[in-house]
Amino acid sequence: MQPPVTDQVERIATEARSLLAQADTPDEVEQLRIQYLGRKGFLSDLFASIPELPPDVRPSAGQAANRLKAELTELVEQAAARVAQARPVSAARFDPTLPGRRPTLGHIHPLSLIIEEICDIFRTLGFSVAEGPEVELDWYNFDALNIPPNHPSRDDFDTFYVTDRVLLRSQTSTVQIRTMEKTRPPVRIIAPGRCFRPETEDARHAAVFHQVEGLMVDEGVSFGDLKAVLHMFAREMFSKDVQVRFRPSFFPFTEPSAEVDCTCPACGGSGCGTCSYSGWVEIGGAGMVDPNVFDAVGYDKEKYTGFAFGMGVERIAMRKYGVKDLRLFYQGDIRFLQQF
Ligand code: PHE
Repeated sequence: MQPPVTDQVERIATEARSLLAQADTPDEVEQLRIQYLGRKGFLSDLFASIPELPPDVRPSAGQAANRLKAELTELVEQAAARVAQARPVSAARFDPTLPGRRPTLGHIHPLSLIIEEICDIFRTLGFSVAEGPEVELDWYNFDALNIPPNHPSRDDFDTFYVTDRVLLRSQTSTVQIRTMEKTRPPVRIIAPGRCFRPETEDARHAAVFHQVEGLMVDEGVSFGDLKAVLHMFAREMFSKDVQVRFRPSFFPFTEPSAEVDCTCPACGGSGCGTCSYSGWVEIGGAGMVDPNVFDAVGYDKEKYTGFAFGMGVERIAMRKYGVKDLRLFYQGDIRFLQQF
C-alpha cells in the first residue's frame, strides 16, 4: 500500500531542503530543480498519483502537493541566488587554458651592482668587506681620524647631528677606525656604505650617497702599493688602457694625500662633455694613513704604514653608465632602472 501523500510530501521536502542547502554550483542547483520540479520530476509524479486516491483524501493531498510545489520553487530560487553570489560569473568562467600572468621580477639596483662589482674586484686583490653603522659617534667620524674640534667639516652645515656626539656619518672613513680598533695588522679591507651630508641636491650632489672605503696596513706598505692597487681597480672597472693620476691634496687622516683621477671612460681622455673637456674624471681621495690615526687606534706607527682611499659610488656609476644626473638613481623610475 502507498504511504499517505502527506508522508511523501514531508519526505521529499526534507530531502530537497538538505540537498539544495549543500549545492554549491549553479549546475548542481539546476540538476536538483529538474529532479524535483521538472516535467518527469518527483512533483509531477505526485500530482499524477492524486486522481488515483480515494475521493475523501484527494482534496487534502492536492493541497499538500501544492504547498510542496511552492516550497520547492522557493528553495530552488534561494539556492540559485546563493551560488550565483558565491561564484561570480568570472570565476565560473575561469579558463585554465589561458596563458598565466607573469609577475614582474625586480632586479638589483644599479648602485648595488656597482658596489658589488667594486667589492668583487678588491676581493681578488685580497681585500675583505667590512661594515660600520650609519649612525655614528663623532669619535669615529672625526676625532680618531685626526679631524680637530674646530674643523669646518664638523660644522652643522656639513654634518647631520643626532645629538652633540652622535651623527649620521659623513664618510665611510669611520670604518677604518672601527676595523683597526678590533684587529691587528695586517689589515686589508674595503667598506661600502651610505653616507650623509646636508647638500642641496643637484645633478651631481645628494644628501644621501655612497662611498667605498679602502684600507691596507702592514709593515712596509708604500704609496707605490696604493697607486698599483687603484690602477688595477680602474683597469678592471673601466677599461684595460685607463690611466690613473694622483693630484696632491689634503685630508686630515692621510699624509701625503691625493685626489685620484682616471682618464674619462666616456671619451678615453680626448675630452668630452662628461669630463668637461679635461680628459680626466675624479674617482676619489686617497693617501698614506696619518701617524696620528695609528696613535688613535693604538697601532705602532714606527712599525706599520698603510694607505687608505675613499671613492664615490654614484660618481663611478655615472661614469661607467654615462648617466648625467645622479638624481635618476634615487627617483625609482622603472624606465630608468630597467636599463641596468
Ligand atoms: N673620506 C674622504 C672623503 O669623504 C675620502 C678619503 C678616504 C680620502 C680615505 C683619503 C683616504 O672625502
